[in-house]
Amino acid sequence: MSRVIAIANQKGGVGKTTTAVNLAASLTATKRRVLVIDLDPQGNATMGSGVDKSDVQYSSYDILCEGVDIRNCLLPTDPGGYKIVASNGDLTAAEVHLLEVENGELQLRTALGTIAEDYDFILIDCPPSLNMLTVNALVAAKSILIPMQCEYYALEGLSALLDTINKIRESLNPDLAIEGLLRTMYDPRNNLAVQVTEQLCKYFGDKVYRTIIPRNVRLAEAPSHGMPVITYDKTSKGAQAYLALAGEILRRDELKEQVANA
Ligand SMILES: Nc1ncnc2c1ncn2[C@@H]1O[C@H](COP(=O)(O)OP(=O)(O)OP(=O)(O)O)[C@@H](O)[C@H]1O
Ligand SMILES: [Mg+2]
Repeated sequence: MSRVIAIANQKGGVGKTTTAVNLAASLTATKRRVLVIDLDPQGNATMGSGVDKSDVQYSSYDILCEGVDIRNCLLPTDPGGYKIVASNGDLTAAEVHLLEVENGELQLRTALGTIAEDYDFILIDCPPSLNMLTVNALVAAKSILIPMQCEYYALEGLSALLDTINKIRESLNPDLAIEGLLRTMYDPRNNLAVQVTEQLCKYFGDKVYRTIIPRNVRLAEAPSHGMPVITYDKTSKGAQAYLALAGEILRRDELKEQVANA
């Protein structure tokens, strides 16, 4: 069974897409079978994976709204090596469609159920909003990874996200877990970053990843070359950080398995 992880935070520009693409590439580098679902009409994960969003036959829109089999929507990425379901502006229309049809919240879960055995990890890159697309992701996922910038308003936005998670737990996905909170674009010289970290750790304990993603220009440059940072500049601090994150996630899984088998 694959680990389905929604990468979500309704706040814009916090590093969701950067995390989806680079975590996918890093997990692929450790020989895991990885699929990225681009669920954002901006199509940033698609472009950042080297796929031209204006030139795809089937995208996530077709899965959610046209009933196209997800197997027809899987595209290879090069050099990332993972698979992707692409997205583009077509997906903007999905919001209205999903609100109108019966079981609109379940479309992605139903589609992913048909390929659950084919991947070790399915990472869903969510749009910066708590709309029907994000709801589809949170209903389909087993857990949510929350990237956040350690700045003043970060915690404020978090409570709206936690409310949404609780609502989804009460209705369609009782087992939705918090996978982890990831500090992104981190600058230790910023006093606020240290304060926000303290508060995060107090509230979320060991759900806060030890791995911190630093602010790193290579991470910002890589998408314009259509590649993850580990192929763009493997020695960069950004690449090392996302490889470390993949390692941390895999180690946590191993520990959980050991406890479950003990
Ligand atoms: N650690 C980092 N260091 C430097 N730049 C970064 C880092 N992480 C992300 N960026 C840059 O910051 C911008 C926003 O990142 P990203 O697109 O990943 O955020 P997002 O949460 O997906 O945004 P949106 O909400 O619009 O989908 C991008 O230009 C990205 O290249
Ligand atoms: Mg994004």
